[in-house]
Amino acid sequence: MAQIQIKNAVKKFNGLAVVNDVSLTVESGEFLALVGPSGCGKSTLLRMISGLETIDSGSIIIDGVEVNKTPPKDRDIAMVFQNYALYPHMSVYDNLAFGLKMKGMKKGPVDELVRKTAVLLDITDLLDRKPGQLSGGQKQRIAVGRAIVRNPKAFLFDEPLSNLDAKLRVRMRTDLLRLHKMQKATSIYVTHDQIEAMTMADRIAIINFGVLQQLDTPIMVYTHPANLFVAGFIGSPSMNVLHGSVTTNVTANANVNATTNPSATANSNGNGNGNGKGNGQKPRFTSTSGAIGFELPAGLIDQIPEASLPNLVLGIRPEDIHLTAGEDGLIPFETATIELIENMGDISLIHLSLENGADWIVKAPPSETMREDQEVTLYLRARKLHFFDGETGNNLFVNRSAEM
Ligand SMILES: Nc1ncnc2c1ncn2[C@@H]1O[C@H](COP(=O)(O)OP(=O)(O)OP(=O)(O)O)[C@@H](O)[C@H]1O
Ligand SMILES: [Mg+2]
Repeated sequence: MAQIQIKNAVKKFNGLAVVNDVSLTVESGEFLALVGPSGCGKSTLLRMISGLETIDSGSIIIDGVEVNKTPPKDRDIAMVFQNYALYPHMSVYDNLAFGLKMKGMKKGPVDELVRKTAVLLDITDLLDRKPGQLSGGQKQRIAVGRAIVRNPKAFLFDEPLSNLDAKLRVRMRTDLLRLHKMQKATSIYVTHDQIEAMTMADRIAIINFGVLQQLDTPIMVYTHPANLFVAGFIGSPSMNVLHGSVTTNVTANANVNATTNPSATANSNGNGNGNGKGNGQKPRFTSTSGAIGFELPAGLIDQIPEASLPNLVLGIRPEDIHLTAGEDGLIPFETATIELIENMGDISLIHLSLENGADWIVKAPPSETMREDQEVTLYLRARKLHFFDGETGNNLFVNRSAEM
């Protein structure tokens, strides 16, 4: 299996860069998920790797060899599309065998490979059928089979499961994952489905407007999103955010939330000095509208550059907000009114309207007593707070340790 390197790749359509200086390396045997909003350039990037699309500048390197000018058939890369692209007039067997025969392989070895692949994908009993006689899931299996049978250097998947119903998607997802674990084939997998990306990938690349935003393991992009875009894109429901500023020169007797749980300050490094942030006074976050203000544990903001304090965005994931006090490490935040409760069975999504009009969502265990229109107090888990620069959107805590 091959390593794929993309170096400063650019693709323009009508003068507009839809893939804009993307550099990333997919290691041999790695499964990389490529995600981003519709139109951000995912399919274009796959097509550039496979050779179906030329590249305007930069390079595509497969196993150390630049292939910019190599035609698709000589790159030895298999692509699996959303729409299966099977030959409708051929049997499943012939669909699998076609590429091998075209390569000049003899009948015996072709037969052996096709049957071996059919066993691998559990499609042996479908070999005599035509694509028109197959379900969507079966067609997708054949499309994957047609890619596998070639034993290519790498697989490029472009939303292969998005035509399938929810249940079949889950089954195919685990089947593909199992297959990958067996074959350890270098794979780039475009998906709109976050669960697919999070569960299948060794690493996830997030793209927006043709620009790579972050490339990291699923857990790292979730816990350490590089910027506001990634924070909003990865995770469902999205991270809750609030624009505002942090001041450090106030006395700690603010009228709200003076009861900050002492243990929430555990990560204070107690530094004192010079930068005005460690002078013993608790920093205070105030929303841009001024409607929301609360104290932050001393020490929490030590890593934030001074210049970002007047204009930043606070972020917290729905599962990191609690509706009851009592646990260590919680910061009293705000009271809010429950607007809507979505009961998902194992958890509830509680939609809240904050005082400044912002809508937040809290993930909480289902509760019989919670009602719409009820007032609740929110407590934020201090360790899970994010701060983003208000101007650039960059996460100001990216260097925080992984156990955050
Ligand atoms: N041949 C083309 N000519 C002109 N513009 C194109 C061409 N192919 C793609 N584009 C444009 O390039 C941008 C990126 O398209 P691409 O298909 O790569 O997006 P995508 O991320 O795969 O989106 P989706 O998630 O909807 O499949 C889009 O704005 C699209 O309209
Ligand atoms: Mg696409």
